[in-house]
Amino acid sequence: MINVVFVQPDGRRDEVQAPVGDSLMDAAVDNGVAGIIGQCGGGCTCCTCHCWVDASWVEKLAKPHRDEEDLLAYAIGLEDNSRLACQIRLSEDLDGLVVTIPSE
Ligand code: FES
Repeated sequence: MINVVFVQPDGRRDEVQAPVGDSLMDAAVDNGVAGIIGQCGGGCTCCTCHCWVDASWVEKLAKPHRDEEDLLAYAIGLEDNSRLACQIRLSEDLDGLVVTIPSE
């Protein structure tokens, strides 16, 4: 298990534990974190798992693949550090990962 922190738009921090191998979206949904819906079940087709990765973690993540980049273009509040949580696979070296959930 690793720790992951979801920062809500109001600044509240939801710190959860999640198994290595799960997606970041799974970690949010399984722990009832508000703002990460995962409507398509991780199929990279809905954008309801959009999050902003904390600057200190951006370089530690695998680069987004083409499908993720294409879908992110439709995300509300798109930023350079935007990612789809369903496309981030949790690994030991992501212990302590911090992401922020957009308000919309
Ligand atoms: S859960 Fe649908 S794109 Fe991530």
